[in-house]
Amino acid sequence: MLAQKQLITDIHQDAEWQYLVGETLIGERMIVQALAKIVRDKSLPSDLLALLEEQLDEEAYHLNEYSRVLGSKSIQGSGYDLDLHHFVDSLPNNTLKLYALQGLLEGISLGALKHRIDHWQDASSFELDKEVYEDEKKHVSLSFDYFDQLIHQEGQFKLDSFNNITLQVKKIFNKAFNADTISRVIKKMTGVAVNAKKIESNTAMHEFQKLSRQEIIENRDKFLGHYYKNA
Ligand SMILES: [Fe+2]
Ligand SMILES: [Fe+2]
Repeated sequence: MLAQKQLITDIHQDAEWQYLVGETLIGERMIVQALAKIVRDKSLPSDLLALLEEQLDEEAYHLNEYSRVLGSKSIQGSGYDLDLHHFVDSLPNNTLKLYALQGLLEGISLGALKHRIDHWQDASSFELDKEVYEDEKKHVSLSFDYFDQLIHQEGQFKLDSFNNITLQVKKIFNKAFNADTISRVIKKMTGVAVNAKKIESNTAMHEFQKLSRQEIIENRDKFLGHYYKNA
C-alpha cells in the first residue's frame, strides 16, 4: 500500500489509511441511521420516498463494504457521527434534513473519497472508493426533481435557514477534524503520540482541506441552485 502524500507523517502509512477509511465507515453508518429515520416518514412524495429507500440501500452497501475492507481495523473515531446524527434529528422538517445529508454530508464524503482516489491507488479500498464516489455524487442530486413538491408540502425556506445548517455542520467537522482531535484519535488507535503542529503545517493536509472545501461548496451550490430554481 503506498500513499503518494501522507497527511500525518508521524505514523505508518497503513495507519493513516486505517484512520481515513475508518472515519468514512463511521460517516456511512451515521448516514444509514439518519436516512432510515427519514424514510419512515410516509408523507414524503412517494417517488422521492422510493429514491430515498434506494439511497438507503446503497449507503448500507457502502457501510458493509467498508467494514469488509477494514476488517478488524475499524477505529474509534472522533465522535463526529454522534454530533451530526443529533443535529440532523433536531432539524424540524425533511427539506432541511435532506439538505444536511445530501447537500452537505455527501460533499464532505466526496472530498475524502477524491483524496483517496488521487493518492491511495494501491490501497485495498481503491476500487470501492471509486464506486462510492459515483454513488455519492448521484445522491447529491437525488431530490432535485422533488423540490417543488417539498416546497408545496413544507413551505419554501429562506437561504438563511440553509446557511445556518451549513454553519452548524461546519462547526461539527472543524471540531472533529482539527489537528488536535486527529492526533487524539491517532493516539488511541496506534498508541503513537503525533505532533498536532506538524499535522497543521503539513502542505498535503492543506491540499486535502482545499479539495474538501471545493467539493463541499460545489455540491452545496448545486443543491441550493436547484432548490431556488424550482421555487
Ligand atoms: Fe455512502
Ligand atoms: Fe450517499
